[in-house]
Amino acid sequence: MHYLNAILNPAQCGFLNNALIALLRSGRLDWTQDNYVRDCCGLGDIPQVDEFYDTVERQVRPIIGPAAVRANSYSRIYFKGAYLKPHVDRPGLDWTLSVCSFAEVEWPISAQGLDYQVASVPIAPGDGVLMRGTRQVHWREELRCRPDQLVIQHFYHWSEPGAAAP
Ligand SMILES: [Fe+2]
Repeated sequence: MHYLNAILNPAQCGFLNNALIALLRSGRLDWTQDNYVRDCCGLGDIPQVDEFYDTVERQVRPIIGPAAVRANSYSRIYFKGAYLKPHVDRPGLDWTLSVCSFAEVEWPISAQGLDYQVASVPIAPGDGVLMRGTRQVHWREELRCRPDQLVIQHFYHWSEPGAAAP
């Protein structure tokens, strides 16, 4: 798990937060409430989020290597009680950069490294965590916060050549 500082600047985070809140208010985010993920809503390939694909890709390219290709993006707003059960991502989403654009509380993401060591770190707004989502089991414990607080995250994915399409 690579922790990357200042992937997006405060103005870029503000732009994304406004986009997500506008989508929330217009009822265009899909709610997830199942055994793996709950108390959050999100949407894939939001144009405002994809505007920053070039920006974030420049910063992860030295780690993901020259051959990894863009897959898709997905963004979520998380509310009190949200969690993410341990899982690996589906083939094709080989690399995931999780960028936080808004967090009123610290909410660690945990992942088992390829060396089987578990790391757990909160992502500060503007920062990101890069991992091999298809190989590293990852999860988040329950989000403990007030009912009026939230966390906004964006996931940028890249595929390894030869991997199945997402
Ligand atoms: Fe995942």
